Amino acid sequence: MKPINRRDFLKAAGVAAAASVVSGCAQRASQPVPISPSKQGKSVIGLIAPKMDIVRVGFIGVGERGFGHVKRMSHIEGAQIVAICDTNDAVLEQSAAFLKENGHTAPALYRGSDRAYQDMLHRDDIDIVIISTPWQWHAPMAIDTMNSGKHAFVEVPLALTVEEMWQLVDTAERTQKNCMMMENVNYGRDELMVLNMVRQGLFGELLHGEAAYIHELRWQMKEIEHKTGSWRTAWHAKRNGNLYPTHGLGPVSQYMNINRGDRFDYLTSMSSPALGRALYAKKEFPADHQRNQLKYIAGDMNTTLIKTIKGRSIMVQHDTTTPRPYSRHNLIQGTNGVFAGFPNRIALENGSSKTYHEWDHDMEPWYKNYDHPLWVKMGEEAQRNGGHGGMDFLMFWRMIYCLRNGEALDQDVYDGAAWSVISPLSAQSVANRSESITIPDFTRGAWQNAQPLGIVKV
Ligand SMILES: NC(=O)c1ccc[n+]([C@@H]2O[C@H](COP(=O)([O-])OP(=O)(O)OC[C@H]3O[C@@H](n4cnc5c(N)ncnc54)[C@H](O)[C@@H]3O)[C@@H](O)[C@H]2O)c1
Repeated sequence: MKPINRRDFLKAAGVAAAASVVSGCAQRASQPVPISPSKQGKSVIGLIAPKMDIVRVGFIGVGERGFGHVKRMSHIEGAQIVAICDTNDAVLEQSAAFLKENGHTAPALYRGSDRAYQDMLHRDDIDIVIISTPWQWHAPMAIDTMNSGKHAFVEVPLALTVEEMWQLVDTAERTQKNCMMMENVNYGRDELMVLNMVRQGLFGELLHGEAAYIHELRWQMKEIEHKTGSWRTAWHAKRNGNLYPTHGLGPVSQYMNINRGDRFDYLTSMSSPALGRALYAKKEFPADHQRNQLKYIAGDMNTTLIKTIKGRSIMVQHDTTTPRPYSRHNLIQGTNGVFAGFPNRIALENGSSKTYHEWDHDMEPWYKNYDHPLWVKMGEEAQRNGGHGGMDFLMFWRMIYCLRNGEALDQDVYDGAAWSVISPLSAQSVANRSESITIPDFTRGAWQNAQPLGIVKV
């Protein structure tokens, strides 16, 4: 086992900081795509880790999301939970008690400081680490995980800045470890079915996609000491852009073979006024409450447009503030027709019983013909185990399957970086009258020869 090398981390951070100065000057569309000068290893596209008989798992962060992950992982054959770290004793004990009650070996527990996770990483009996902490911890924890010789599985978004994305890419390449951002929505039944339909050519040549995270979450502002809102609310006062781009964008990117034959080229972004959070704070909290002291700057609705190298367009929206129904849009338009989500509907020129002037809302025949093989095999068990309709369980099952069977994971560090970097770059565009911002090619050109994600047979 290699010790965690903080000097390496700081060196990488320094080089990446220098790179950001370079890339800061190179953001205009007419200028070259910024490339990290610090490449330290070979590409990890298609990386296959040596087969593992049993996958030994460590957790960092077992709050709202991480506790669900502990429960799901405990049901997956071939996975063994070895250790858990959290700075909050109550949630740490909750996970430990759950495992005990369900007959699992007691995991080692790490607590007491923000860096206690590094003690856990010194263990040599952990293969992968599941990171479900507040956003600002994702990059440092994933980098330390890879430097300790383990594979990193990180909640969304992968990281927060262009510099952090490059540090993660550089570390994955140097250590040859997986760094997967766990975009669970890519394992939803509908998203998997649409991927299958796209691969079978139902929509013709792809032209345009729409993705979103529209999810009213003002109520989280009432979480003050612990839980998601205790740290997430502050982001509405720090960044005016798309704060959470990956849930809608992940599936649309897989439909379009982003980083595997096409890639993001540039974006432009625009935000509405930021009104809803301040109104909510005024209504729900006393005038001198901390929620009334924040200056909320994140526009209630942010709309970003991405152009790909192949000329396709993607609209990405973010709104966790206004009163309206949930949506991820999940729209894909091709030369032969369109699929859209929320609610699911489809219109095709050839192949549908209905005319393309009307939506077909009846999904059952489409599921029957086009359900993804992964869903056909595992969907029932996934739904039984829960987690956003089964997608969370299916993602974990698939991760463990790939690691035990010597297969490449479905998402790599380049995907996580490309989907997550929309957040800082959208803010940069918003701040500059929606100017177009070049999106870095984190694959350093390898996207041109990378194979599209196939429809796996399991
Ligand atoms: N993919 C999804 O559908 C989905 C859903 C919800 C949340 N998330 C993501 O999951 C992550 C966690 O969100 P959450 O809702 O569970 O938040 P949370 O606040 O409930 O949980 C975070 C946990 O991390 C712990 N923590 C903080 N700093 C730590 C440190 N230095 N060392 C160890 N533990 C530390 C906290 O004590 C807390 O228990 C976020 O990145 C969020 O975006 C993803």
